[in-house]
Amino acid sequence: MKKVAILTSGGDSPGMNAAIRSVVRTGIYSGFEMYGIESGYQGLIEGKLFKMGISSVADIIQRGGTMLATSRSDEFETPEGLRKACNVLEVYGIESVVILGGDGSFRGALELQKKGISIMGIPCTIDNDLGYTDYTVGFFTAVTTVTEAINKIRDTSSSHGRANVVEVMGRKCGDIALYSGVAGGAETIIIPEKPFSIDTVARKAMEGKKRGKRHHIIVLSEGVGSAYKLAEQLEELTGIDTKVTILGYLQRGGSPNISDRIIATTMGFEAIQALVRGESGLVFGMQGKTVFSLDLVEALNVEKTFSEELYEVLNVVSI
Ligand code: F6P
Repeated sequence: MKKVAILTSGGDSPGMNAAIRSVVRTGIYSGFEMYGIESGYQGLIEGKLFKMGISSVADIIQRGGTMLATSRSDEFETPEGLRKACNVLEVYGIESVVILGGDGSFRGALELQKKGISIMGIPCTIDNDLGYTDYTVGFFTAVTTVTEAINKIRDTSSSHGRANVVEVMGRKCGDIALYSGVAGGAETIIIPEKPFSIDTVARKAMEGKKRGKRHHIIVLSEGVGSAYKLAEQLEELTGIDTKVTILGYLQRGGSPNISDRIIATTMGFEAIQALVRGESGLVFGMQGKTVFSLDLVEALNVEKTFSEELYEVLNVVSI
């Protein structure tokens, strides 16, 4: 019986559990023996593997985080770490590994693939920073969480007549800021993909104030710089009391929303279907509403593009 393992790696994202459930159940349905690897590549190196059954993944589709635990492993990036990981897979007789994670996790997957392990990758990261797919598992839930936070921050900002800098995650990708800024009706978004001028932000805040606006929400992507410095500069230029809210890890937790559950479940199913067909070295993505697969190497070479259209929408509608 073919043995297939699954691991989650890097920052967790809402929907990872839905993908685990789908992979394990579809795998068992397809006649594979399924194994879970605890704590990502580090757990693989340390031989933390266990057999999974249908009920191992019961009652997890609605849960945030990852039931398999995750890690960022420096050891796996060394030749010795990779050798240990391959050795563990050989001892267990595991031929294929399904990897749930983002860019770094997929680069790790490529190393395993080069050693003859057949891999499948499911894009799970709140950052939505993988170029080959429109959306990653967890992104929409994180955007919803941020949007709900913006709603609340706007309430109190309006009460006090303040501006608020809301710092969000995303590393070098501004998608969380862009989408939540549009959905939350932010006045300004500041993202790594676009240069910004503090004078323009200040002018907009002052214009809004003159028209009777009692809040100014600035969504700042973490990849740009310090929220506190920005707030200080804005306050200096405008005299508007400016507060900072750093949303941090709040964005990574929580029950996955419906679209993340469906994307995760479909991709998990497709990953196993591809293994049944004897394919390997694939990652899955979304183009519009459709799930597709792509060669891992090709996928890693697709540069992330930025939605100029949505950025333009935000700038016009937030005047
Ligand atoms: O999961 C991606 C991400 O959330 C980034 O947006 C963030 O910069 C990073 O992970 C922080 O993760 P950690 O502190 O867990 O390494």
